[in-house]
Amino acid sequence: MEVLKGIDLVVDSHEVVCLIGASGSGKSTLLRCIDLLEPIDAGRIVIDGLDITSRGVDQNAVRRRVGIVFQAFNLFPHMTVLRNVALAPMRVLKRSQENADERARHLLERFGLVDKADEFPDRLSGGQQQRVAIARALAMDPDVMLLDEVTSALDPVLVAEVLDAIRELADQGMTMVIATHEMGFASDVARRVAFLHEGRILEDGPPERIFREPAEPETRAFLDRIIAAGRM
Ligand SMILES: Nc1ncnc2c1ncn2[C@@H]1O[C@H](COP(=O)(O)OP(=O)(O)OP(=O)(O)O)[C@@H](O)[C@H]1O
Ligand SMILES: [Mg+2]
Repeated sequence: MEVLKGIDLVVDSHEVVCLIGASGSGKSTLLRCIDLLEPIDAGRIVIDGLDITSRGVDQNAVRRRVGIVFQAFNLFPHMTVLRNVALAPMRVLKRSQENADERARHLLERFGLVDKADEFPDRLSGGQQQRVAIARALAMDPDVMLLDEVTSALDPVLVAEVLDAIRELADQGMTMVIATHEMGFASDVARRVAFLHEGRILEDGPPERIFREPAEPETRAFLDRIIAAGRM
């Protein structure tokens, strides 16, 4: 089945782009393509000059450069928070345990979680678990972070702390592509917002323009529904 059609999106280094659009519009599929989690039938994806869709590319090497965080945090339940964050750098990047642990602690500190380092994930709130998942992705020093509805599974009070963590990442210059239903957050954190509709990017531009003066009737209808639902 053809899901994405004629997608043309350039994300600059240090740029934050938010993907918005109705359920089923293709946001997750687009993110999964960038991490090579979906088979790509046509088109190209280039990261930092490397065509990751060309034959013979080391897919694992690509995934090492791309951090992805999903709605469901997918932490390893049988490992402490610290081990969750330090695992991939040791296994994949062959870092020493000392080195990986030190970096993991540093990341946990950055997200206000250093006191949770030795806890198991089920002892943490959803918001804390999601911040651990973000720290785990960052521990691989990715070139780009892909975030897919990372606050959708959280209670409203926990959403803010995760959004703050992402905002901090944006301020530090992390390149990010973020699928989100949080329009306030998108307009705050994104340099650019892309509106997806039925597998196409119908328009993209600075959040001020997309939210205040959408050019396409579909964008307008989508935003009207969001406003009617009290989510903007
Ligand atoms: N593995 C798959 N195989 C076939 N079709 C799929 C697959 N995954 C998603 N789709 C379809 O692709 C389209 C885009 O889905 P996608 O999950 O990317 O939407 P989304 O914008 O992320 O939606 P949501 O806001 O609900 O997360 C939908 O029509 C969906 O049914
Ligand atoms: Mg999705």
